[in-house]
Formats: sequence, C-alpha cells, structure tokens
Amino acid sequence: MSDGLHRQAEPEIMDEIEEAQAYAVADFDAENAAFVDRLCELSKGLDACIALDLGTGPADIPARLATQKPRWRTWAADASWPMLIHGKESLGHARDRQSIGLLQADAKRIPMRTRSVDVVFSNSILHHINDTATLWNEIKRVAKPGALVFLRDLTRPHCASDALDIVRIHAGKESKLLQQEFYRSLLSAYTVEEVENQLQSARLDTLKVKQVTNRHLDIWGRITRA
Ligand SMILES: C[S@@+](CC[C@H](N)C(=O)[O-])C[C@H]1O[C@@H](n2cnc3c(N)ncnc32)[C@H](O)[C@@H]1O
Repeated sequence: MSDGLHRQAEPEIMDEIEEAQAYAVADFDAENAAFVDRLCELSKGLDACIALDLGTGPADIPARLATQKPRWRTWAADASWPMLIHGKESLGHARDRQSIGLLQADAKRIPMRTRSVDVVFSNSILHHINDTATLWNEIKRVAKPGALVFLRDLTRPHCASDALDIVRIHAGKESKLLQQEFYRSLLSAYTVEEVENQLQSARLDTLKVKQVTNRHLDIWGRITRA
C-alpha cells in the first residue's frame, strides 16, 4: 500500500510503434511463465472453454497457455495495432495457433456477447485504465456466472525511490525506453486498497486481492452474479 505516492496515470493504449517494439523484445520470460502457472493452478480441471485475455500486448501469454490448455479457445484482445502485429508474430510460433484469436478491442467495450466467457484473464492492463468501473462492469457482463477471473498487475510503490529501485533491480538490463515505461507504469499502478474499493463499487466482492511480490498484486476469484 502507498500513502505517500499519488497515482500518476499513464496513457491507456500502448500504440506507439517504438514502445510496442520495446515491450515485445523485453525479457518477460519468468513473469509470463509464472502468470501461466498461476492461471493453470486456478483453472485446474477446466478443460474446453472460452477464455479472454484483456490487453494481450504481444500475446506471449496466450501463446504459452496454448501449450498447457490446448482445448481452450482464447481471444487475445488489445486496442493497440502495433501490439497486435507483434502478437501475430508470437502466435506464428505457438504450437496450437488455431485455438487463439487476435481481437482489436477496447477492454471497456468488448465485442463479445453477455455471459459468453468462462475465463477472463489479464496481465498488466489495470494500471493503464482510469475508468476502472467501466472495465470491471464489462468483465462482469461478458463473464458467465461462475466464470474465473484472474488479473495480475503492478502495485504502486511507497515512494519514487522505491519505484526507481524496482526498475533497476527488475529491468536494469532492458532498453532505456522500457525502463522509463516501467517506472511510469509503477506510478500509474493501483494499491491493494484502491483495487478493493473498485471491486466493492462494482459489486465484485467475491474477487480477492493480494500483493504477491514487491511489485505485483493478484485479483482472482469466480463471478457469482452477472
Ligand atoms: C503492459 S502491456 C501488457 C501486455 C501483456 N498482457 C503482457 O503481459 O505481456 C498492457 C497492454 O494493455 C493494452 N491496453 C491498455 N488499455 C487497454 C484497453 N482499454 N483496451 C485494450 N487494451 C488495452 C495496451 O495497449 C498494452 O498492449
């Protein structure tokens, strides 16, 4: 939780060619593997289903997921064309490319039917969104009753120097642009308490929130009401 550092919103969509490129070539191997492991743990026993990845970026997570959950049909959505172009490249290498569909869409207005999705997941979209109420309501709308939700995101550090330390320790080997964007993202992230308030306002109180590393929080659970 951060008492001292106020949230400084960053732009929502990562649609600049250079930033999409910097993100696509950065090394998120450990983070993305850990995300997929946790999603598989949460969805144990869930075999054939419709899944939705919000803010998929270069679609590395759905590409990895396809090898572990070959019977899932995953929609990988992002509002940024440059990101989706990188996504197309990552999926070219995925073992089960047919099970993943790329979708250019705003996560706050998803072009999918009400109560049509079994699993909604996302890594690192929440800190981009200012109108979080609309995002949570949209997740609620597309989710089937009982759907699994799993979002992982950054959490805002206590102070700017903690944010700088996190960037140095976890992205010190990345490009300057990636490091600047990471710093900006940390300042734009929500605290556990702020996310709890968002969920309460959206009447999503069956979802849990927990800080899981020095820079990440998880939000997970089942949707019990539409
Ligand atoms: C930090 S990246 C994370 C990408 C990917 N999930 C990953 O973990 O590698 C955030 C992504 O969310 C996308 N995004 C932000 N706001 C969005 C919105 N309202 N609708 C759809 N995509 C959005 C950005 O364009 C960007 O590609």
